[in-house]
Amino acid sequence: MTTRFPGRLAAITAALLATGLAASGCAREDAGTDNSATDGGIVHVACGATEDWCAATTKKFSETSGLKADFVRLSSGEALARIKAGKGNAEFDVWYGGPADGYSAASAESLLEPYVSPNAAAIPVKYKDATGAWTGVYVGALGFCSNQKVLAERGLSVPQSWADLHNPKLAKEIGIAHPSTSGTAYTALWTQVQLAGGDQGKGLDYMRKLHPNVLQYTKSGAAPAQMTARGEVAVGVIFSHDCVATIEAGFPDLKVTFPAEGSGYETGGVALVKGAKNPVSGKKFIDWALTTEAQEIGPTVKAYQFPTHPDAKVSDKVVKLDSIKLVEYDAVAAGEAKTALNKRFDAEVAQAPKS
Ligand code: F6P
Repeated sequence: MTTRFPGRLAAITAALLATGLAASGCAREDAGTDNSATDGGIVHVACGATEDWCAATTKKFSETSGLKADFVRLSSGEALARIKAGKGNAEFDVWYGGPADGYSAASAESLLEPYVSPNAAAIPVKYKDATGAWTGVYVGALGFCSNQKVLAERGLSVPQSWADLHNPKLAKEIGIAHPSTSGTAYTALWTQVQLAGGDQGKGLDYMRKLHPNVLQYTKSGAAPAQMTARGEVAVGVIFSHDCVATIEAGFPDLKVTFPAEGSGYETGGVALVKGAKNPVSGKKFIDWALTTEAQEIGPTVKAYQFPTHPDAKVSDKVVKLDSIKLVEYDAVAAGEAKTALNKRFDAEVAQAPKS
């Protein structure tokens, strides 16, 4: 099969990481220093939610607070690489959105400034880091996004289990992102590790067996939703809310199912970047991101994650988390394993020589 993209992806990732190393090599020793006196009343956000949600959120924050805010939409691995590259000369003040395991990986590399917002008290313990490195702003569950028409043409029904995705009739019919760049795909990989009782080798075995069925590893986690909608693949392995948004965007043939063995889930985080140039404004952004006002923005822009604030209104388009079987997902353990496991995925699955 052709997987041209991972080669390019690896090159981009390597370049980003190399930039990071170069930048940190000549870094001023000010990472983590107190920049509050020079805070410019602006927040630069590395944003891992959808482009529309990032735009609506930064706009609303500006209206509410009177502070300026801008964002760059980055997939999880890209955000981590960019924040690393900015060590000593921070490009971003805040990281907002994207699975918490990326935040845990960043925290392990001392790239985040622990901050316990007064508003974090309202967020359940299971949705926040014990050390204050990050706090959860939403929860999303992985699922399968199927194009029922394409499946019917292949004589297949919608997949109901992870095992179903190994069906040889699905050769090159699956879209999933690359876990080095995508938090979605890393959630899928770590889910396999969990389903294998914590055995990383067995988790990779699952992905290796899936590989012949993967058309292409995309950069962003939600990209396979578009591929599935266009009929380029039959099934996308994505966060279920990204499939719901695509159905709403005019693709009623798509259908969401969840794997019977258990699905992985994300806690989307928010955190202060170490050495942030605008830490006072950054903290205000974090405080606000934990309010019901901020957490009710998602559905206005077709983003149907579950809010972490217990009092935030929940759209009826949000999946009921207690209605699906979820695996145990420890974002800290997943984050600690992330860099090494992604390297193994690339070498042993995506770039593995054909046997
Ligand atoms: O599209 C939104 C979303 O699915 C978030 O729920 C998630 O945190 C993020 O995208 C993951 O993006 P990526 O897989 O590109 O890192």
